[in-house]
Amino acid sequence: MITPTQSADGSFTAYSQSYGEHYHSTKDGALQESLCKHVLPALEHVAGRGGVIRILDICFGLGFNTLATIMASRQRGMTQKLHIVSPELDEALVRSLAAFPYPEAFDPFIGVIQSIARSGFYEDEHVRVEVVFGDARAFLATCNEPFDIVYQDAFSPAANPALWSVEYFAQIARLLKPDGLLTTYSTALKTRLALYENGFRIYLNAGEGYRNATLASRQVLPYPEVDMRHKIACNPGVSPINDVSLKRQKIQYSSIHH
Ligand SMILES: C[S@@+](CC[C@H](N)C(=O)[O-])C[C@H]1O[C@@H](n2cnc3c(N)ncnc32)[C@H](O)[C@@H]1O
Repeated sequence: MITPTQSADGSFTAYSQSYGEHYHSTKDGALQESLCKHVLPALEHVAGRGGVIRILDICFGLGFNTLATIMASRQRGMTQKLHIVSPELDEALVRSLAAFPYPEAFDPFIGVIQSIARSGFYEDEHVRVEVVFGDARAFLATCNEPFDIVYQDAFSPAANPALWSVEYFAQIARLLKPDGLLTTYSTALKTRLALYENGFRIYLNAGEGYRNATLASRQVLPYPEVDMRHKIACNPGVSPINDVSLKRQKIQYSSIHH
C-alpha cells in the first residue's frame, strides 16, 4: 500500500509501508530528482546517437523516470526511438497508477500511464515501454539485449540490498553497452565499490537544486571522476554488499518486507 506525499518541488511521491521509505527524495522533489539524477544526464549521454536508444529503468515504481524520460526527450526534440524496459515486483502498484496525483508536466503523457496500468505496455512512434512484472534479478538473468542507459533507482541499499550487490552489478555490467551510462542517486561508498569492482569508472553528479548523485561508465566522461583508489585507501573497513552475505542473512532477491 502507498500513501502519496508532497515533496520539496511540489510533486507527489509516495511512502512505501513495505520498505519503510519514500519512492523519491522528499528533499529534492520527485520530479526534480528524476530529471537531475537520471534523465537529463542520460539523454545528454546519448545525444547524437543513431537508432533505437534502449533504457533499463530499475525499477518502475511510480513511473517517474519513464515519464520524465518521455517528457524530456520530446522537449529536446529527440528523433531516436526510445525502448524503455522496466522490471517491477509490485504489479498491484503499477495497476493502481492511473489514479496517482502526477505533476502537471506529465499531463500530456497520461495516456502512457493509463496504458501501462492496464497492460504493462505502451507504444507510439517515439517510445515503447515494457514493464516486466516480477523480480528484476530473475529478469536480468534471462535478458540478452544490451542497454545504452541504466537507471539504478531501487530503494536504498539498506532496504533493498539485493539490487545493490556486486553480483547484481555484474548482471548490469553484462547488459550495459561498453559506451553505456548508469545513473543512480546513491553516493554510498558501498555502492560505488560494487560498481568499481565490475570495471566501472565512478563520477560525481552534482548541481544546483539537488543532492549529489553518482554516474558510472566504462568510458571517460565529462564529470568529476571519483578517485576510488584513494577512497578505498581511506576507508579500509568498507566493503560492497555481496550475495553471499545476503544469503547468510536470509535476504531473498525478491523479498518485500511486509
Ligand atoms: C525507489 S522505487 C522506484 C521509483 C521509480 N524509479 C520511479 O521513478 O517512480 C523502487 C521500486 O523497486 C521495486 N523493487 C524492489 N525490489 C525489486 C525486485 N527485486 N525486482 C523488481 N522490483 C523491485 C519496488 O517495488 C519499487 O517499486
